[in-house]
Amino acid sequence: MQHDSIAVVDFGGQYAHLIATKVRRLEVLAEIRQPEDPIEAFEGASGIILSGSPSLASHGEDSGYTKAIYDLDIPILGFCFGHQEIAKHYGGKVINGRQEWGHAELHIDQGEPLFTGLGKVEQVWMSHFDSVTELGPDFHEIGYTVLGAGNKPHHFAAIASHKHRRYGFQFHPEVDDTLHGDEMIANFVFRICGCERSWTMEAFIDEEIERIRRQAANQSVFLLASGGVDSTVAAVLLSRALGSERLQLLHVDNGLMRKDESQQVVEMFRELGLDSRFHFVDASEDFLSALSGLVEPEAKRHAIGTTFVEVFEREARALGIERDMLGQGTIYPDTIETGGTKRADTIKTHHNRVPIIEKLIQQGKVIEPLSELYKVEVRELGERLGISHKLLWRHPFPGPGLGVRLLCADGRVEDAAALEAIAPEVAQHAETHGLSGVPLPIKSVGVKADLRSYEHPVLLSGQRDWDELFEAAGSIYKTVAGINRCLWNLAPGAPTSFRPLAATTTRARLDLLRECDALMMDGLRRHGLYDEIWQCPTVLVPLEIDGHGKELCILRPIHSERAMTATAARLPAELLHQLRDAILALPGISGLAYDLTSKPPGTIEWE
Ligand code: XMP
Repeated sequence: MQHDSIAVVDFGGQYAHLIATKVRRLEVLAEIRQPEDPIEAFEGASGIILSGSPSLASHGEDSGYTKAIYDLDIPILGFCFGHQEIAKHYGGKVINGRQEWGHAELHIDQGEPLFTGLGKVEQVWMSHFDSVTELGPDFHEIGYTVLGAGNKPHHFAAIASHKHRRYGFQFHPEVDDTLHGDEMIANFVFRICGCERSWTMEAFIDEEIERIRRQAANQSVFLLASGGVDSTVAAVLLSRALGSERLQLLHVDNGLMRKDESQQVVEMFRELGLDSRFHFVDASEDFLSALSGLVEPEAKRHAIGTTFVEVFEREARALGIERDMLGQGTIYPDTIETGGTKRADTIKTHHNRVPIIEKLIQQGKVIEPLSELYKVEVRELGERLGISHKLLWRHPFPGPGLGVRLLCADGRVEDAAALEAIAPEVAQHAETHGLSGVPLPIKSVGVKADLRSYEHPVLLSGQRDWDELFEAAGSIYKTVAGINRCLWNLAPGAPTSFRPLAATTTRARLDLLRECDALMMDGLRRHGLYDEIWQCPTVLVPLEIDGHGKELCILRPIHSERAMTATAARLPAELLHQLRDAILALPGISGLAYDLTSKPPGTIEWE
């Protein structure tokens, strides 16, 4: 069946995916397009939405996109950068200035179809340096903002040309802070583009089953089943499409799993009735040797991804099924964070996008039934397929597993002088909040202004309530150069000396991390918090503290919806005391800290 669809042009930034999700919630298919995609990629769409961008329209940045979209006779709506590009294209003017940040009051023309059903004044969310200051001949203003009583209006916050069917919003209707943003998007999709609701989960299942059958033809599929939500849902969907006899499942114990997890995965597939062609291999030695000596996060990810494929090929040969297709539970954000698009910086290479897999994809040998979906949609799909709540709401676990939670280092600090230089500034910020603070001589990955960062964390010590702790943390990681995270020391006292150690991936270190992680996860379950917390990495960093122990353990419980952004959770004091006593008692542990950092600027994982 041909669906009505909206093409969402991703000019970079994180919100393009949110736009697509919001359109899909309206049961209309939304497909992300790259700005330089050929015009054919837009032709079947019922409408186009241009996303915002970190680029400046006033400086002509990012202007090399497929302008032929403006020749298509379908409606186009732009947000922020997209709004400014539309204004420019049709003879308007954009300047660098009149910036607005955060909430604004939008005064609207209620007669406009885009604003049907809305109030005279609407709360919207702004984030822009550039502004539209003049409109071309066929355009008119349909909304303006006023910043505070007595101030002059900011014109052209919303514009329209009914003749060309082109529209623009300076604000972001896709974020929840624009209170009726969903209604505005719905007005565009239904009233302006005339879309019908047709993209339902049921329709998706039927079509995906057809697509899998076509793609697999008469071949079987060999799927790596990690036990995570995505590959489990992919397994059930593939078995629906092909029958369990044409689906071979392989669970690889890569030595980077949680404590006792591989046994639980075997048990889970038995419960799902998918155990007749389920194979299990302990390949921990292969992974450990591939990781030996590696320190750099990206190098570790590549080693893990490549070893997965080697093990998979070896097992396929051993089982005589090497001609089968490779199945993967890749979901949409996996491809985006890998820098799957020209604009997106490579923040992390996901293991299912390493070069050897890319090659198989080009040869048409990879089947990825979830590659268009977000995590929430995968869970919804899983529910429709009858998978239990308990399985579907397991915390997400990264493909490279504990491999990216066991930090490695060569023991050197290249920027010791820079660290020393920022120490007084850090201490001063901490002191303002009644805490002490020191930058640590270790590094972790983060994301700032959509770009990857690899910077130092700060350790805060002292007893304060959560509000004060988060305020102190934010004041440091938002302002101090070279810092992308803040931790709260859970061990007694305020440590003074830190010595980074050389360490790579070893079984002994992994076992220690597994113990810490099991204590954390058991604690969450005991306190009834497992479902409330979206994900909770536990991390080990090779750092000696006050001459004691070798590993700093970090707890990172977070709340999130789509993993694109996250905030640190607040765990009860009683649980933190229990964890402190249990984790600090483990041999080799030098300290325990709690990650207070939101994403951005920290990522959820430390690598
Ligand atoms: P970050 O750390 O980028 O993580 O905030 C976002 C989400 O992605 C998961 N993650 C991965 N998943 N392979 C995966 O399959 C990976 O290499 C990988 N790295 C991060 C992470 O656990 C979080 O849910």
